[in-house]
Amino acid sequence: MEVIILPSSKDIGALAADSIEALVRNKPNAVIGLATGSSPLPIYDELARRHTEEGLSFAQVSGFALDEYVGLPEGHYESYREVIRREFTNRVDVAAENVHGPNGSSQDVEAACQAYEDAIVAAGGIDLQILGVGTNGHIGFNEPGSSLASRTRIKTLAEQTRQDNARFFDSIAQVPHHVVTQGLGTIMDARHLVLVASGAGKADAVRAFVEGPVSASCPASILQFHRRATVIIDEAAASKLAGAATYRHAYDNKPVWQGI
Ligand code: F6R
Repeated sequence: MEVIILPSSKDIGALAADSIEALVRNKPNAVIGLATGSSPLPIYDELARRHTEEGLSFAQVSGFALDEYVGLPEGHYESYREVIRREFTNRVDVAAENVHGPNGSSQDVEAACQAYEDAIVAAGGIDLQILGVGTNGHIGFNEPGSSLASRTRIKTLAEQTRQDNARFFDSIAQVPHHVVTQGLGTIMDARHLVLVASGAGKADAVRAFVEGPVSASCPASILQFHRRATVIIDEAAASKLAGAATYRHAYDNKPVWQGI
């Protein structure tokens, strides 16, 4: 796992965007896994800027959302399908039919989750998965206790996650209790994981998953088993890392040609 500590979320967004740009230039029909929440927004802003100002094209790219709330009416402003459209895909030239999300309102949730797994495989698998991390160590909506081998399925949100996400709704009562999410096994199948986090509120979770034991109690710790996981965080999110100086030294001395 590579840990990169940068001064600001803007820098984090730019570095993650560099990696996505390199991927898309090398493989125009790349498959990108899309996270929602606040953390990836600087990435989407930077990719949208590069599209508008520098002609970076996503015309052949496919996108797969990480997760979706269950129970929000179609078109709800905070449904992740809408968030991804608003924050990213509508700002670039991704074809609408190439943007996929797990179906949180299917009558047959199990079949819908399996269909989602099948669609990822049919697209050739995810080349680069963008991730954030919850204050309790979740990735996607794989809350503590999730099977490290799990696939896309319905999950119940931890109360802490509902509280954390209440800022996107008028009140906590409106935050759904259930979600469908790619499983930890699904996420681990992506060829490159890029997790971004910023702010002191993430410092405990970052310390736990980067330097703690691999455990279902801290789902993001599964990244320690991935052959290509890049963790890009700001100083505040890195503030509790015992090995911060080592990570900084490694990155500062990394050959530029290696990229991330
Ligand atoms: C979002 C997702 C979540 C968030 C996490 C952090 O699709 O899967 O794991 O990445 O809850 O959220 P923010 O970035 O809002 O702090």
